[in-house]
Amino acid sequence: MKIGVLGSGKGSNFRAILTEIEVGRLDVEPVAVFSDVEGAGILELARASGIPAHVIREPRFRTKLSPEVESDVVRRLRHSGVDLVVLAGYMRMVKAPLLEAFPRHLINIHPSLLPAFPGLEAWRQALEAGVEKTGCTVHYVDAGMDTGEIIAQAEVPVLPGDTAASLHARIQVEEHKLYPSVVARFAAGELP
Ligand code: GRF
Repeated sequence: MKIGVLGSGKGSNFRAILTEIEVGRLDVEPVAVFSDVEGAGILELARASGIPAHVIREPRFRTKLSPEVESDVVRRLRHSGVDLVVLAGYMRMVKAPLLEAFPRHLINIHPSLLPAFPGLEAWRQALEAGVEKTGCTVHYVDAGMDTGEIIAQAEVPVLPGDTAASLHARIQVEEHKLYPSVVARFAAGELP
């Protein structure tokens, strides 16, 4: 199974997927990585692994891609033979071109137990709300913000003395286990 990865940041979830592939626990082939942020760590990770790294240039919008730019991403994903699109820290809303090209083959990871705390800095939202536990969620992507059907979740307790940074770090530890495990279920034909 060929995967395409979209991310805007450091790419630690992508790194976790790469690690599972390297140790032989995950049988997928990352064939293309895209980022809307030119210097993003996720692009460096791809290049270091010999995976084609693409910069998405979007001059008009900050929170989404214009239809022609997103359609070009779709074209390049298809050209690479991508079966499953994995959003790993991709910070824009996904629109019709991608949604229609990869129905139920487009997934995201979010740092909360959805439907609680969609949107930005979900770990900080959880801390400020005073909940006892939060976590992370892998879900199908739809047109809403973090509203797609939930595939899998992992819980993380909020500990006394937690800061936004310490809580986010512990959530990421769980993300790095959860995301590769869900991708493996696609590879095994258990999903979608
Ligand atoms: C993660 O916390 C993920 O849940 C959210 O964005 C962050 C990406 O981190 N969607 P990384 O780039 O994978 O390190």
